[in-house]
Amino acid sequence: MYNEIDFDKIDITMEPPVEEPARQYYFIAKCRRQVQGLKRELGRQPTFFIQTFGCQMNARDSEKLTGILEMVGYRQSEVEEADFVIYNTCTVRENANNKVWGRLGYLNAYKKRHPNMKIALCGCMMQEPEVIEKLKKSYAFVDLVFGTHNIYKFAELLEASLAQPGMVVDIWTDTDKIVEDLPVERKYPFKSGVNIMFGCNNFCSYCIVPYVRGRERSRKPEDILLEIKRLAKDGVVEIMLLGQNVNSYGKNLKEPITFAELLRKIEEIEGIERIRFMTSHPKDLSGDLVEAIRDSKKICRHLHLPLQSGSSRILKEMNRHYDKGQYLALVKKIREAVPDIALTTDIIVGFPGETEEDFLETMDVVEQVGYESAFTFIYSKRTGTPAAKMECQVPQEVVKNRFDRLLEKVQAIAAKRAEAYTGRVEPVLVEEVNAQDEALVTGRLGSNFVVHFPGSREMVGKIVNVELKECKGFYFYGEAIT
Ligand code: SAH
Ligand code: SF4
Ligand code: F3S
Repeated sequence: MYNEIDFDKIDITMEPPVEEPARQYYFIAKCRRQVQGLKRELGRQPTFFIQTFGCQMNARDSEKLTGILEMVGYRQSEVEEADFVIYNTCTVRENANNKVWGRLGYLNAYKKRHPNMKIALCGCMMQEPEVIEKLKKSYAFVDLVFGTHNIYKFAELLEASLAQPGMVVDIWTDTDKIVEDLPVERKYPFKSGVNIMFGCNNFCSYCIVPYVRGRERSRKPEDILLEIKRLAKDGVVEIMLLGQNVNSYGKNLKEPITFAELLRKIEEIEGIERIRFMTSHPKDLSGDLVEAIRDSKKICRHLHLPLQSGSSRILKEMNRHYDKGQYLALVKKIREAVPDIALTTDIIVGFPGETEEDFLETMDVVEQVGYESAFTFIYSKRTGTPAAKMECQVPQEVVKNRFDRLLEKVQAIAAKRAEAYTGRVEPVLVEEVNAQDEALVTGRLGSNFVVHFPGSREMVGKIVNVELKECKGFYFYGEAIT
């Protein structure tokens, strides 16, 4: 285990080992000396700032980057004006990219005044060849650039960057490698994401993720279980299993295992009280999984089931492998087995060729299902995806109009669904002291709704029963029941 290693005892005068993770341990040791030198130069401990864009996968990756940075001797800073700044980027929609370009402008100005600082970029956006070209051409002040497939090499790349001026770039097009047992620093002591698989093989026609995250790879069940057992020992009570399509977990392992089977094994781990997962592709949601959820005492009564569109024609164009009827039948089956389950979803508006009729099909599904919450997105054209080449891109004002109508419906329904919880007593995992009012704490129900109630710092990380007194649309005010 990495936390049993004394990094200062590693002999860095030798050649680095070839095998992983020993190779990264060697570079962690090397970085530690470099950062100690930096500390002497600055007369204080060097700081780092990390900004994460995008999804839960990226959030988890950032915890891994943070783990390394702290291990080599940096201290985390809440402000961007730090000695080492790293952006973990997302490229799922155009606006995710724009944010990064905007922030780089600011960093450039700051670096001119602080030439010794280092700027690093990693994550999904770096897997796009046009981005790398643009960086090399016009953003020479960036020091380190790497992608999603070689993130485990961060210590090695950091060492190279600290040792020399100029831009270090290392991007891989794909990998079949999974490196375990590297340092990781959780954002919350009591809950944690756990990667169960990487990459995606689904190639939904609008989506760039398969191109930037590579082919689907599942972690071995024994590695996942070991990680969760360690987390439980370390005080974690809630885990979120992460994958782009968790329902196809394990299919390509040497000894195949299903997601439902994995869940049943995780259920037995003592100390873990809540299990969540993200994301479930409707096409692969098995009857066995529905039963596993029904029979579980720990799996939260919440399922995120991305719809994307309610029109069977558009779903076909999207390459989603289900139609409106199949989606609704699946929802019915889940609700029959687990009546109190909260359903949430993702919807894209303005996919190429989407007509008013197609859009009304989406509105119809939203109404029929009655989601507790829905993320709505305006279709964003991603270079390299099949949809980017499709004719009939929908005019912006039409999309905007549909988006507003959809959002209004989604919010009205969500408020109604939430209202129905009022008066219930529900177990709540307390996550933090309320930022606005210190007399309150904030936590989440199993269904993922947020509740604020009178409490104290000692409650953070604990599961308490809370009566939901007042519904405020998409959150509640409550009172702890002792
Ligand atoms: N693997 C998950 C989703 C990952 S991306 C799944 O299959 O559900 C998260 C969400 O971003 C998607 O569900 C989709 O709604 C949205 N999205 C992906 N590509 C998009 C694009 N090009 N334009 C707009 N939204 C997009
Ligand atoms: Fe993208 Fe589809 Fe894969 Fe989700 S399942 S990441 S939407 S390609
Ligand atoms: Fe974005 Fe990459 Fe996640 S593109 S949504 S950070 S997988």
